[in-house]
Amino acid sequence: MERHTSLKNEDDTLQSEAILQVDGIEKYFGSYRVVGDISFDIAEGEAFALLGPSGCGKTTTLRMVAGLESPTGGRIRLRGRDVTALPPHRRSIGFVFQDFALFPHLSVFENVAFGLRLKSRDRDSIKARVASALASVRLPVETFGDRYPNQISGGQRQRVAIARTLVTDPLAVLFDEPLAALDRHLRDHMLIELKELQHRSRLPAIYVTHDQEAAMILADRVAVMNQGAIQQIGTPQEIYRRPANRFVAEFMGEVAFVPALSVESSSEGTSIRIGDETLWAGPSDFAPETRLVAGFRPGDLSLCPPGDGDIRATVTGCYFTGLAFLVQLEIAGGVTLSARLEAETAPAPGTEVGVRATPGHVILLPS
Ligand SMILES: Nc1ncnc2c1ncn2[C@@H]1O[C@H](COP(=O)(O)OP(=O)(O)OP(=O)(O)O)[C@@H](O)[C@H]1O
Ligand SMILES: [Mg+2]
Repeated sequence: MERHTSLKNEDDTLQSEAILQVDGIEKYFGSYRVVGDISFDIAEGEAFALLGPSGCGKTTTLRMVAGLESPTGGRIRLRGRDVTALPPHRRSIGFVFQDFALFPHLSVFENVAFGLRLKSRDRDSIKARVASALASVRLPVETFGDRYPNQISGGQRQRVAIARTLVTDPLAVLFDEPLAALDRHLRDHMLIELKELQHRSRLPAIYVTHDQEAAMILADRVAVMNQGAIQQIGTPQEIYRRPANRFVAEFMGEVAFVPALSVESSSEGTSIRIGDETLWAGPSDFAPETRLVAGFRPGDLSLCPPGDGDIRATVTGCYFTGLAFLVQLEIAGGVTLSARLEAETAPAPGTEVGVRATPGHVILLPS
């Protein structure tokens, strides 16, 4: 699938500096294959996201990387060393669990110190390292060290869980749904904090999430998963603008697909016919006559007077969302599109309008 082509391009550059290489891992629970043939590399300093719907195998994949689950097949290498058969504590990989998994009967300080005490370091060094790990997540040890997990907020518990992982100096950190336990406001705040923390530390990170916005903000590259398989790996822009298939396109954000009757490709790009109208879709490398579907995201459509745009439409509904109006449109063949309109007023239902698409942003896929 697409992954092979997108990985291949980067193979040469990643090979030498890949800190983590996941090569064809799979996992069966009984006779049920939960994850199949997953491959990806993570470079030094890179933030990577595994994104997909509930039950698609994200946590299982992450647990195999951490050593908490053993793969049925495939290899995992860390700094070139095969760690597939090594237990978690011999991999130098940090894991931040979805529920943070703090010890309720230990103070914040002791929670963070826990991993260090197992390695029996001397007390002064433990104290200094715990203080520094807590400082890096902006929880001063003087204020928070003696509190217990039930005496701090959800966002603070999240940070303690991160500090507890950072203090052990891992080669990479894995986060399972780092924002799922937080309310909307805290989620937005922690999202930026996580991003900045990863930027400062340059620690390779894998985030598992079902939240496509969080994945795009947090990660340099995103792997979109469905039913145990990677559908596409790419930068946030690549997977959003040039999804490999319909699943990826729809998972990344609202999109309406219209069957295009024919494609005309010239040296300048592609135009597609929808009904008896022609729409300029910008550069693409589809062969002429390929049967395509064209996908439109609401933010990539604009309205103009009828006759001016690429295609004619009738407004069927209009909703104010705070940021803009979401305008429902019907085009030839009864197909419904949505356009985001940033304006003070919006056209009433029944109005005839012209619709223009941002050429490079039309998503073209084989039908
Ligand atoms: N120990 C297990 N035994 C049997 N089946 C399991 C086990 N762990 C997970 N599964 C199944 O494997 C599939 C993938 O689970 P996984 O937890 O990896 O999904 P996920 O992508 O993390 O989902 P979510 O977003 O809901 O956390 C699910 O169908 C789940 O029921
Ligand atoms: Mg999960």
